Amino acid sequence: MTESAAGRKTAKPPQRLFIPGPTDVLPDVLMAQTEPMIGHRSAEFEALFAKVEDQLKNLFYTDSRVYIVAATGTGLHEAAIRNGVRGRVLNFVAGAFGQRWHQVSLGCAKDAIRVDVEWNTAVKAETVARALSEALDSGPVDAITVVHNETSTGVISPLDEIAEAVRSLSPDTLVMADAVSSFAGVKIPFDEWGLDVCLTSSQKALALPPGLAFCAVSDRVLERAEEAPGRGWYFDFLNLEKSLLRNTTPATPAISLMRALSVQLDHIFEEGLPQRYARHARLAAATQEWAMTRGFELAAEEGFRSPTVTNVANTRGIDVKDLNAHLARSDMSISNGYGPYRDKAFRIAHMGETDDSDLVRLFDAIDEYLATMKPLFGE
Ligand SMILES: Cc1ncc(COP(=O)(O)O)c(C=O)c1O
Repeated sequence: MTESAAGRKTAKPPQRLFIPGPTDVLPDVLMAQTEPMIGHRSAEFEALFAKVEDQLKNLFYTDSRVYIVAATGTGLHEAAIRNGVRGRVLNFVAGAFGQRWHQVSLGCAKDAIRVDVEWNTAVKAETVARALSEALDSGPVDAITVVHNETSTGVISPLDEIAEAVRSLSPDTLVMADAVSSFAGVKIPFDEWGLDVCLTSSQKALALPPGLAFCAVSDRVLERAEEAPGRGWYFDFLNLEKSLLRNTTPATPAISLMRALSVQLDHIFEEGLPQRYARHARLAAATQEWAMTRGFELAAEEGFRSPTVTNVANTRGIDVKDLNAHLARSDMSISNGYGPYRDKAFRIAHMGETDDSDLVRLFDAIDEYLATMKPLFGE
């Protein structure tokens, strides 16, 4: 049994999905969803809610609150904008999901300013400070949005430095972060970093089925929400807050997914948070090393490479579809490059419950495929 699997009641089967979500889910977590239904206004449900809420606050390192919604991360992109933005928002776009948040901001009819950052590079504090101070010249900026870990490029941005830069320039500007593919794979101390919204989805490093989304929200956002027009209803943080104080949700919660969440959170704390983050860092380093020693280059900017997904530049010109067909014979898959990087790169995710032996199995299978290709250096 591997280090990460030690102490688990059910053995971890070998990883199948090396795509950046959905990730494989442990068998007992999947099984938890088959429990019979309970009424969502029952004491039993409230106890379940209180337990997972407490664990999620620990995982976000926050004393404030974590909203749990039956939606995906994109739903919370919309919630953050509707609750935290009255007028202007600055959306930093360094990949597909930064772009998504910008589209959501426009869709919510906000004055959304798009700040483009070269793909495969990080959003840096200096860039944020420059764009924010320029925007502030023509009026207040309610919030900035930034993707912590751009799944499309495999780049992680220095969220702590970004938050600090925003705070010192404009204390009234809320800092909203998408941690969809970093949360639970890397430490994100919400309170210490002074974040206002940090949102994530269930199907990435949390290793749960898709369908739940979570966000830590500061008091400052709730104050702002009082003045934000068009908050809607389903994602109105003031509604969610009233229910949260009673350990429930305004609408019917996804009870089966909440049961799975409860079991998986126990696994996460059993493994230990420092151990979990160290495992993700170790798997990222192993993947980077494997890629480099096989003659590939890494697409993501050095110093900002993601701990959860490695973006490999396809410098050997392999046919990614053909490689995936080869991997499928051993019930495994990886991801192609995203959007404009299709076939120019491929992405290997190492998040959730993946462990060292899973990567060895994957690398062996890719090596087997590479051995069938023409020698790279003309040996
Ligand atoms: C960084 C990032 N943000 C947002 C999303 C959208 O999340 P969801 O599909 O849960 O709405 C994704 C999905 O891959 C993502 O990787």
